[in-house]
Amino acid sequence: MQIIVSGMRPTGRLHLGHFHGALQNWLRLQQEYQCYFFVADWHALTTDYATPQGIQQNTLEMVIDWLSIGLDPAKAVIFRQSQVKEHAELHLIYSMITPVPWLERNPTYKEQIKELTGKDLSTYGFLGYPVLQAADITIYKANKVPVGVDQAPHVELTREIVRRFNQLYQPIFPEPEVLLTEAQKVPGLDGRKMSKSYGNAVFLSDTPQQIDQKLSRMTTDPARVRRSDPGEPEKCPAFQLHKVYCTPEEIEQVSVGCRTAGIGCLECKKVMIKHVIEDLAPFREKRAHYQDKPDEVAAILTSGNDVAAQAAAATMTEVRGTLGL
Ligand code: TRP
Ligand code: SF4
Repeated sequence: MQIIVSGMRPTGRLHLGHFHGALQNWLRLQQEYQCYFFVADWHALTTDYATPQGIQQNTLEMVIDWLSIGLDPAKAVIFRQSQVKEHAELHLIYSMITPVPWLERNPTYKEQIKELTGKDLSTYGFLGYPVLQAADITIYKANKVPVGVDQAPHVELTREIVRRFNQLYQPIFPEPEVLLTEAQKVPGLDGRKMSKSYGNAVFLSDTPQQIDQKLSRMTTDPARVRRSDPGEPEKCPAFQLHKVYCTPEEIEQVSVGCRTAGIGCLECKKVMIKHVIEDLAPFREKRAHYQDKPDEVAAILTSGNDVAAQAAAATMTEVRGTLGL
């Protein structure tokens, strides 16, 4: 069976953007592949090294969300990066063969240095971020890596490191392929990309009341100033959610209503809000279950860590043998 590896930094509670981006895809993949899904907590340190206190809690919250949406520990190996020390050992070895210019020209690196101005990112670890990611991926001999476009350069770099390793020593690693996630577009409440740090997110764990309150206030087509002004759904951030959640009939109805000013924005959004709340109901139930049973969650992680560690140890035995270490 083909092997898939993907990780997510522990950001705490997940939102609709995560769901329609990565997670829905993971749910499908766990049916067809041997999947390794992990909490990239060491990667969190590359940018948040000054505030590690939140990592433990954020890891737990995120894993609870994973389990609640249906990631299944009986199908996928669910684990925590920092608990499988072999990632660090392989990272070290890769760091010996990775030219610094490969890292310096990484577009994600350049962009983040510019964007995250509040943090000093002139660190060794931040530059080496993709080298650690290469170790995460290849230690399980992954064939495919499902990620968004922003992460594609990291997978490309992984392939270059693998090629170099295989040439210098012995060909023990497959070159992993990127599996680009075609994400459904789910903007945040203000129309920008949904993100916890923008304060514009609807969390999977929000209550029906919170979902209703947030989405009722979501940005609409700015041309509809008054109720009598016609609008254009394609210019309305809220309508992106209609497209994801509503039936074709409902979408048609509100589109016509919007363009003819036959429907008010709140009334229109309520059609969609009802579906969002309904869709998340099973999730809320499962989440309540796991929230009450942190031991169960911890046990799932522990056994995932063990399974991952076994696979990682086998690879490292090969790597050490190849290098005569
Ligand atoms: N860098 C990824 C992100 O920020 C997380 C990650 C770490 C990852 N290691 C990985 C993703 C390995 C895929 C495979 O989203
Ligand atoms: Fe958006 Fe609906 Fe208002 Fe049109 S009527 S602008 S689609 S919320």
